[in-house]
Amino acid sequence: MIRKFRPSSRLIESVGFLEEIYKNPPQPVESKEGLQYTSERHLNGIIGNPLDVCEVSMLDHITFPKKNQSELYRSVSLDYPKCSIILSGNFFYPENGYMSWHTNKDAPGLRLYLSYTEYEDSSFFIYKDGVNVVKDPDYVGWTAREFLIDKDNLLWHSVFAYKPRISAGVRIINNLL
Ligand SMILES: [Fe+2]
Repeated sequence: MIRKFRPSSRLIESVGFLEEIYKNPPQPVESKEGLQYTSERHLNGIIGNPLDVCEVSMLDHITFPKKNQSELYRSVSLDYPKCSIILSGNFFYPENGYMSWHTNKDAPGLRLYLSYTEYEDSSFFIYKDGVNVVKDPDYVGWTAREFLIDKDNLLWHSVFAYKPRISAGVRIINNLL
C-alpha cells in the first residue's frame, strides 16, 4: 500500500536546497493539539465522511523556486518514465506541527513524498491500513513514500511532527504512453 524507502542520492540532490531551509524552522506550536487531530479516536469520529483535504493543520507552505521545481521533475521522471510530474504540496512542519486526517480522494493517482528531519523518531506519517492505524516514523535525513490515491480504496492519512519536518510531494500521472 505504501512503499517506504531511502531515496537515491540523485533524488536527494534534487531537493537538497530544502536542507538549508530546514535550519530556520517556523515557530513551534505551543500545544500538542495535533496529537488529538491525528489520533485514531479522532479518525473514528470522521471516517464516515471522507474528507478530501485536512480539517486543520499547523504548518508553513514552502514555495519552490522554478529552478528547483524543474530539477525535481527531471529527477523523478528518470524513475517514472512516460509520466507527467506535478508538484502537489510542500510543507514545513514546526515543532508539534501537524496535518489532520484526510484522503486526497479528489486528486487520485500516484504520489511520491520526500520528507526530511534531523531528529530520530520525531515525525510520523500516520495512515489507516485495514483495521489498523500505523504510525510510521520518518528516517533521520530523507524518507521517500510512494502511495496510490484511489477513490475506491481510500487512504486516510495524517502527519504529526514533534520536531521540525519538511516534506515535498509530487503527483505522478501515467499519461505519456
Ligand atoms: Fe495528503
